[in-house]
Amino acid sequence: MRFLITAGPTREPIDPVRYLSNRSSGKMGYAIAEAAIDARHEVILISGPVDIDRPRGAAVIPISTSDEMFGAVHQQTRNCDVLVMCAAVADYKPAKVSKSKIKKRDANLSLELIPTRDILASLPKNRQYLVVGFAAETENVEANAHKKLEEKHCDVIVANDVSRTDFGIESDENEVTILFRNGEKKEISRAPKEIVARELIKIFENVCEKRLTKKIA
Ligand code: CTP
Repeated sequence: MRFLITAGPTREPIDPVRYLSNRSSGKMGYAIAEAAIDARHEVILISGPVDIDRPRGAAVIPISTSDEMFGAVHQQTRNCDVLVMCAAVADYKPAKVSKSKIKKRDANLSLELIPTRDILASLPKNRQYLVVGFAAETENVEANAHKKLEEKHCDVIVANDVSRTDFGIESDENEVTILFRNGEKKEISRAPKEIVARELIKIFENVCEKRLTKKIA
C-alpha cells in the first residue's frame, strides 16, 4: 500500500529570525514511516523540521509552515491508500509576518494570531484512502479524541496523553488508545515508539483489508 505520513511540528514565522512552534520531536511519525517500510509499504513522509535521520526507503518532502504542509498533503493524497496525520500542526500563526527583524523595545509586545487551516478537516469526505488522525490531549483524552474523530471526519484516531512526562511528546516511548468509526477501541500499552508503530501499522492494514472485503462483498 502507499502510505502518506506527516510528522513533526510546523513553524509559523513571526519575522526573519523568529517563529511559533511546538515540542513535537517527530519520533512517532518517523517510527510509523520506518514500520510501514519494514512491512513493505511505499512511504511518502511529509516532515516538519526535526532532528532525526530520514527513514531509508521513504520519499521525504520537507516542509516548514502549516500552509506548506496543507499544500503537500492535498497534492500527495491524490495517490495514497492511507494518510497518517501524525504531525503537530500549529493551530495559530501570526496575522502579519514582519519582513525585518522586530526590534526590542521597553514596552510590552502583543502578537495578533490567526487560525491556521485545519488540514484533516479540509479533506474531501468522499475519498478512497483511509484517514488516520492523531489526538494530542492533556485531559479527557478519550472523549476529546472521539470529538476529533467525528469533527474531522477521520476513519481512525490515535489518542495520546501529552500531559505525561514519562512517555508521549518528545519521549522515546508512547502509550496510545485507538478509536474507530464503528465505536471499537484498542489500546497499545506503554512501549518504545518503534513497537507502538509496528502495532499501529498492523491495525491500519487490518482496517484497509476489512474495507476492501466490504467493497468486494
Ligand atoms: N491537524 C490538522 N491541521 C491543523 C491542526 C491539526 O490537520 N491545523 C491534525 C493533526 O495532525 C492531528 C489532528 O488534527 O492529526 C488533531 O490535532 P491536535 O493538535 O490533537 O488537535 P487540534 O485539532 O489542534 O485541537 P486542540 O489543539 O484544540 O486539541
